Amino acid sequence: MRVIDEERALELRKDFPLIDGSKGIYIDNAATTQKASCVLDAVRDYYLNANANPYRGVYDLSVRATEAHESARRAAAEFIHAGRPEEIIFTRNATESLNLVAFSLSELLLEPGDEILITVFEHHSNMLPWQQAAKRHGAVLRYIECEQDGTITEENFRSMLTPKTKIVSMAQVSNVLGRQYDIKKFAQIAHENGSVFVADGAQSVPHIPVDVQDLDVDFLAFSGHKMYGPMGIGVLYGKMEYLEKMPPFLTGGEMIEYVRRDGATFAEVPHKFEAGTVNVGGAVGLEAAIRYIQSIGLDAISQREEMLASYAMEKMTQIEGVHILGSADPKEHTGILTFTLDDVHPHDVATILDADGIAVRAGHHCAQPLMAFIKKADGRPVMATTRASFSFYNTKEEIDRFAASLAQIRRKMGYGI
Ligand code: ALA
Repeated sequence: MRVIDEERALELRKDFPLIDGSKGIYIDNAATTQKASCVLDAVRDYYLNANANPYRGVYDLSVRATEAHESARRAAAEFIHAGRPEEIIFTRNATESLNLVAFSLSELLLEPGDEILITVFEHHSNMLPWQQAAKRHGAVLRYIECEQDGTITEENFRSMLTPKTKIVSMAQVSNVLGRQYDIKKFAQIAHENGSVFVADGAQSVPHIPVDVQDLDVDFLAFSGHKMYGPMGIGVLYGKMEYLEKMPPFLTGGEMIEYVRRDGATFAEVPHKFEAGTVNVGGAVGLEAAIRYIQSIGLDAISQREEMLASYAMEKMTQIEGVHILGSADPKEHTGILTFTLDDVHPHDVATILDADGIAVRAGHHCAQPLMAFIKKADGRPVMATTRASFSFYNTKEEIDRFAASLAQIRRKMGYGI
C-alpha cells in the first residue's frame, strides 16, 4: 500500500482540474466528489469514438457501445466483489437504486401487516421509498433508534425484529454521523430472522473496501458521483435469487423479451431493470473512476481520510462553541464531521465559510428525522447542522484554514469567543 501523505495528496490533486491550484477549499465530498481527469477523458473518448444506442443496433458502433456498458458492469461487479456481473444493475444514482429495490422487492414480498425495518439515521433516499412501499402494501415501517452518538447495539437491533419483518434496510455509513455499521453482523441477524437485508452503500463504497459476498447483504446501492465518477450513474447490486423473481421497476425500451397488445414478457436480469436508453457515457465514466480508485487503493484512501478527520477533529474541538455530532472517536467518522456552532445557524456558518472560499454543506443533509432525533445539550433537537466531509485529496493545510475561519465565526456574528 502506498500511503497518501501530504506530498502524495498534492500529487493526486493534479488529477482533479477543478481543485488543482485552486485557492478554494472543497470539503463537501459526502455530497459529491470532484471529478478526475481520467474520468472526464473516458467519457469524452466514448462520445467521440463509440457513441451509439447500445443493445439495439447490429452495426459496429452500437456493438461497441454495448461492450462499453458491459465492461463497466464487469468493473463494478469486480469492485464490490459481486459473484457475477449480471447482479449489477445500472441506475441514475443510489436514490434510484433504493427506489428500485423498495418498489420491486416489496411487490415480491410484502403482504398487509408485514414490517419493514430501517434506522432513524437513514437519509431520505433510504426512507421515503420504504414509506411509499409500506403505504402501497399496507405494511408497517418501523425505525430502529440509535444512541445519541449513533451506536446501534446488537440487542437493540434484535429487539426490533419480529416474525413479520420481511425487509431490513440501513446505511453502511451514515451521511451525517459518518459512523460505520457492522452490516455483516446485522445482515446475519436479519437472515436468521428470515428477513432480506438491503444496504445503502452511498457513503461507504467510495471510502472503504466493500465485499458484498463477504458481507452477505442481499442488495447494495451506491452512486458514481460520490466516487469521482459522473453524476447520473448509480448501481444496485442484488442477489440473483431475488432479482430473477422481482418484477421490473420502470418499463419500456429494451427491458422486454416480447410485447403483445395485452402484455409483455421481460428480458433477463439485469436488462429487465434497465428501461429506456441506458447511460453508457456515465457507466464508462464510472468504470474509469473505479480503475482510478483501484490504482490508489481503498486502504490508502480510508487511512488518509481517517487521518484528515482526526486532524480536523482535534482542531475543531479546540474552538469554543463547536459540537461535533456522533462519536468522539475520529475512526468512527469515515471522513465526515457534522457539527453545530453555538448561537449561529448552520446556514450562516456555511455562508461565512464560503466567504473564505470554503465549501461545506449546511442544513438537514436529507436526514430530517435524524436532525429531530439528535439533541443539543439543552435537550432541544439540532434540526440543522454544518457538515465538513473530506476526500484523500484534501490537505492538512486546508483543514488549518477551515479551522481558522470557523474559529472567527462567533465573533463575526457578534458573540464573544
Ligand atoms: N446524500 C447526499 C449528502 O449527504 C446528497 O449530501
